[in-house]
Amino acid sequence: MTKSEASLEAAVACPHPADQNADPPARLIRLLACPSCRVGVEPAGPGGLRCTRCGTEYVVRDGVPRMLPGELPEAVAETADAFGWQWHSFPQQYRAFREEALEWFSPITPADFSGISVLDAGCGKGRHALLAAELGAAHVVGLDISRAVDVARGATRESPVIDLVQGDVLTPPLARGAFDLVYSLGVIHHTPEPRAAIQALAACVRPGGTLHVWVYGHEGNAFVRRVVDPLRRQLARRVPRKSVRAGTFPLGVLLTLAARLSRRLDRVPCVPYRAYFRGLSKYSVGHIWAIVYDQLMAPTTHYIKGHELEEWFQAAGLTDIRIRDSRGMSWTGTGRRPSDRATSGPRGEGWSV
Ligand SMILES: C[S@@+](CC[C@H](N)C(=O)[O-])C[C@H]1O[C@@H](n2cnc3c(N)ncnc32)[C@H](O)[C@@H]1O
Ligand SMILES: [Zn+2]
Repeated sequence: MTKSEASLEAAVACPHPADQNADPPARLIRLLACPSCRVGVEPAGPGGLRCTRCGTEYVVRDGVPRMLPGELPEAVAETADAFGWQWHSFPQQYRAFREEALEWFSPITPADFSGISVLDAGCGKGRHALLAAELGAAHVVGLDISRAVDVARGATRESPVIDLVQGDVLTPPLARGAFDLVYSLGVIHHTPEPRAAIQALAACVRPGGTLHVWVYGHEGNAFVRRVVDPLRRQLARRVPRKSVRAGTFPLGVLLTLAARLSRRLDRVPCVPYRAYFRGLSKYSVGHIWAIVYDQLMAPTTHYIKGHELEEWFQAAGLTDIRIRDSRGMSWTGTGRRPSDRATSGPRGEGWSV
């Protein structure tokens, strides 16, 4: 870690100081699995866990098991590094994201969270984990490959139902079939293999439970793919992050103004990205700045076609599959892991986890 990153990390707003010696709770250890062998782990002295088959030891820091699968492929390591920096640099939690979050979760409703166990795969700074807990989930596990888990830890420390793990969605350090609901919002399109991520996450769902993802769409994103994406590829690799962070502030201000203006253009036909701008129009400049930075600094981004997402859900053995257009430029995919007992299939407009 560079000096500037260290001071940035120290500056992360965290109302409750880290307890470096905290152990993970037993309820979490029961759900963990060695990412290589997929068998359970056991406590190995203070601050450690050990695979019961291969004996690999995993460090626990601040109550968060660090269960990365050995050496990461270069593209994954770059992504982890970029997002670790990003969330330490933009740690603020904004309540205004809630409406967007509920849209991303649809057809899963707030009521569906009541009393269930949830995996937030790629939890970033922990905002959806906090929301899931607020909506009544009995247990929420946040998984992220990057140092973002430390930001999430700071934000969720007071929650009695949220636990965190550092690990890869492609080789989740979690027991098979452990969760009623596995969701992943804005994550798998940043992995080198989104299809494999669906497969790996589907395995974490209990029989009869639900997998739900939100991804960037290929459709409706021609401008972003043709203009923003080439810029992203240059910026992510060549320009220092601090410069991009500073440079994206004026863009954030412009986008904030455009979003506010879009509210006045309701009667004008053919305003591009209308639904997207309307969503943004309720956000503060700081929130929109973080979104602009996020769009430009991810080393890997895929824009996924609706039919591809559907095929990946089918290939993962999921049923009752629903692919939903989210604001004309992204997709949600929702599917159920078949159970031994027949499930009753999709239920009207809603869903039941
Ligand atoms: C755009 S952020 C979204 C975070 C969060 N879901 C949200 O919406 O606030 C993407 C997150 O996915 C994580 N991520 C990317 N690749 C991952 C992987 N292979 N395994 C686990 N997490 C990953 C990043 O570290 C980052 O925190
Ligand atoms: Zn092992």
